[in-house]
This record gives sequence, C-alpha cells and structure tokens, in this order.
Amino acid sequence: MNSKELLDVVRSRRSVRVYRTGKVTDKQLEMILEAARWAPSGANTQPWEFVVTRDRAKMKRVRQIYDQEWKQRKLEDPVNYKGLKKDYVGDVSVLVLVCADPRTMRVYLTTRQPGDREKLFQASVANAVEHMMLMAASMGLGTVWVSVREEVEAELRELFKVPQPLRLLWIMPIGHAKAWPKAKPRRKISDFTHREVYDSKKLREDSDIRAWPKE
Ligand SMILES: Cc1cc2nc3c(=O)[nH]c(=O)nc-3n(C[C@H](O)[C@H](O)[C@H](O)COP(=O)(O)O)c2cc1C
Repeated sequence: MNSKELLDVVRSRRSVRVYRTGKVTDKQLEMILEAARWAPSGANTQPWEFVVTRDRAKMKRVRQIYDQEWKQRKLEDPVNYKGLKKDYVGDVSVLVLVCADPRTMRVYLTTRQPGDREKLFQASVANAVEHMMLMAASMGLGTVWVSVREEVEAELRELFKVPQPLRLLWIMPIGHAKAWPKAKPRRKISDFTHREVYDSKKLREDSDIRAWPKE
C-alpha cells in the first residue's frame, strides 16, 4: 500500500451507527487485533486488553444498559440532554470492549505526575483503537468509538466479568454498515497548523468551539 492508499483509508473511515447483518470473519478480526498489537504505547507498556464477543444475548443486554442510561438522562433533563440513543452498540457482528491495565502507569519511570501518566495511558490505548478502526475501514467494515460512562460502567463490567484493577474505557462495535455515512466536516489544515510559533490570530473564539460543527 502506498501513502496515497493509506490516506484514502484514513479518509474513508467513518463512525458507523447503523449496521446490517453480515459477518466479520475470524480472519478479519484477527487482522484488526493484529493492527492493535502494533500500536505505539508509552514505554511500550501495551496497556490494552480487549474482550471480544459475538454473543447476541450479551449484545442485547449492552443495548438495554445504554438504553436505560439514555432514558434516565432524558428524564433528568428532557430539554437539554442531546445524547445519541446508542441502539447500534450491540447490533453488530462483533463487539469489542476496550479495557486497559492502569498498573502499566507505574512503570513510566520518568513520568511522575499523575496527570502526565494518565495522558500516556489513555493515549496508548486510543492508538490501539484507532489502529483497529483503520484496519476495519481498509476492509470495508464499519466501527464506532463508544464511550463507557460511569453510569453504565458497573453493569458492563459485571456482564463481561472485567476484574479490578482494569479500566473499562470504550466499546467498539465492528460490522457491515447499512449505508456508509457521509464525511463530517473537518477543520482546514491551515486552521490548526502554526508555523514556528503559535499564531494567536488562529485561536478560536469560545463560540467556535462546539460539538457537531457544521463546517
Ligand atoms: C474519544 C471518543 C469518544 C467517542 N464517543 C462516542 C460515543 O459515545 N458515541 C458515538 O456515537 N460516537 C462517539 N465518538 C465518535 C465521534 O462522534 C466521531 O468520531 C466524530 O463525530 C467524527 O465522525 P467520524 O468518526 O465519522 O469521522 C467518539 C469518538 C472519540 C474519538
């Protein structure tokens, strides 16, 4: 694959939230996990642990857990709560629970501050997730990065028997997209790149910082 083809894969990846039936083969899953394996990580600690399931009953339960959370949040704040209903979380061929071992933070020998250690830890796991997403995209498979909030964590932990002290960070469904979503707007390179020193003319107004920007 040349760099143009790699960029094409990077550009084609979308967060897929509507899936159709269709299997992610064991071979595909293996390649996706292999991509995670080669992710860079702080002090090469490789903190990730993945619980992978194809079990429909567990997926149904995951959907219920997210649905309960959505209903509860909507009840608390019917007007302002804009969270997406996460029906897609478990309606897929494969569900990957992204966990990580925080004990790896202890071996960042030269990094002392807890905030700095947390950065290394989370970024390392995030790299593995992105590697998996890109590999999936290269095979025409959809994925989406799903947050595991505190409100759902205990139930998911119980369902998948994730022991302490592991952290349960995210969930990633993998499957065949019903339709490949359109690209979301991206900032221009020149808007976020600064030559030599930070160009404060480019510092965004508070009002420009928003979820789901239009362009
Ligand atoms: C750390 C992180 C957390 C995210 N959490 C969620 C989530 O909980 N639910 C969801 O549907 N999408 C989630 N996303 C996906 C983003 O909404 C998505 O990447 C972004 O809107 C850009 O769209 P694209 O991925 O299709 O390019 C998350 C992405 C990241 C990187």
